[in-house]
Amino acid sequence: MNPLKIGNLKVNLPIIQGGMGVAISLSGLASAVANAGGIGVISAVAIGMTEPDYMKNYREANKRALRKEIRKARSLTDGVLGVNLMVAVTDYEELLTVALEEKIDVIILGAGLPLKMPQYVTEKGFENIHTKFIPKVSSAKAARVIFSYWAKNFNYIPDAVVVEGPLAGGHLGFKKEDLTGEVVPLADLIEETVLEVSQFEKDFGKEVPVIAGGGIYSGKDMYEIMQKGAKGVKMGTRFVPTHECDASIKFKETYINSTKDDITIIDSPVGLPGRAIRTKFVDQINAGNAKPFKCPWKCLKSCDFRKVPYCIAQALFNAARGNMDEGFAFAGSKAYLSTKIQSVSQVVLELKVEYYKMKYLEYLKNFVGQRFIPERINLPNVIPNIGLKLA
Ligand SMILES: Cc1cc2nc3c(=O)[nH]c(=O)nc-3n(C[C@H](O)[C@H](O)[C@H](O)COP(=O)(O)O)c2cc1C
Repeated sequence: MNPLKIGNLKVNLPIIQGGMGVAISLSGLASAVANAGGIGVISAVAIGMTEPDYMKNYREANKRALRKEIRKARSLTDGVLGVNLMVAVTDYEELLTVALEEKIDVIILGAGLPLKMPQYVTEKGFENIHTKFIPKVSSAKAARVIFSYWAKNFNYIPDAVVVEGPLAGGHLGFKKEDLTGEVVPLADLIEETVLEVSQFEKDFGKEVPVIAGGGIYSGKDMYEIMQKGAKGVKMGTRFVPTHECDASIKFKETYINSTKDDITIIDSPVGLPGRAIRTKFVDQINAGNAKPFKCPWKCLKSCDFRKVPYCIAQALFNAARGNMDEGFAFAGSKAYLSTKIQSVSQVVLELKVEYYKMKYLEYLKNFVGQRFIPERINLPNVIPNIGLKLA
């Protein structure tokens, strides 16, 4: 696997762990992925729910909790750490400030177009910082909008871009009707975005890696999408059923016990559809049953708490804490493939083995030609040491 290079930042394992809120990817998971050589990402959205005074001092609680988690993660790893920010939340700029004050390596910006972000960073006096900025988009067109805006107004372009396809877990940048039946292949989105970004790379004399996310679960998935031009992958779902993931065991068990038919689409008060595992709670909200709640503040720019049927932040946090009767687990389309809880290092080893198996098969296919039958290859016999470690 080639390292992922984002400017002067070299990431040996080309995997960005998806930031997962509320309180699913905190310092535990992020530091474990960073220690395995990838980019470990803390999710900032409503992170203050982990603090006792959230209902009274939500803004302060969010900032304090994010700072705490970044520092904790830093004490557990010398690897690369990131923060995931949702542009759609009302305290997005305050959380961005905390992440920059803490000198985070990478910031991933999802759930909205971060058009004005470079202006804010400059106005706040954060110049000549090492932090890399990576917007997450769902199409080459959205990438073009951000790149053009930043280039025109700030003479600057993003350091990398994540393209997330329709098979991802969490909120999705697609219309609900585009998520059923045949969905647009991630490979197409990657090829289109690589092409789109290439002109900006030339204009700015800067390499901008395109990173693929959404439904990437195995080393085979990684290998295949990287053949299409992705320089790295972003994976959320695969890291949930790990010992280090910060969610409760009940949340992780929901993944392990799920079947393909349980993975479903919900309407979120964020104004986007989301992919989750079906539970009684999900059935109720999908049937339009309201779940009355008190809103201590308007955490989402688009949410009118008097009209929405439930509080998404509370439902996600309840689930993270194991209260699946009053919440639900966001999950990618391949969550049902999870069968056990593993350590992050076991997951990464499996991914590497699967990836290199694909690479080796490709090599043999080219070398031996059509007579070669890939299914007959027994990897542990070919690479005995890897076979032993996996056993
Ligand atoms: C449980 C869960 C929670 C997530 N929460 C967030 C979030 O708070 N903000 C965000 O931008 N993306 C969120 N995502 C999306 C991930 O960051 C990542 O992009 C996605 O999981 C990649 O697709 P995959 O799940 O198929 O690997 C979440 C995904 C999951 C599975």
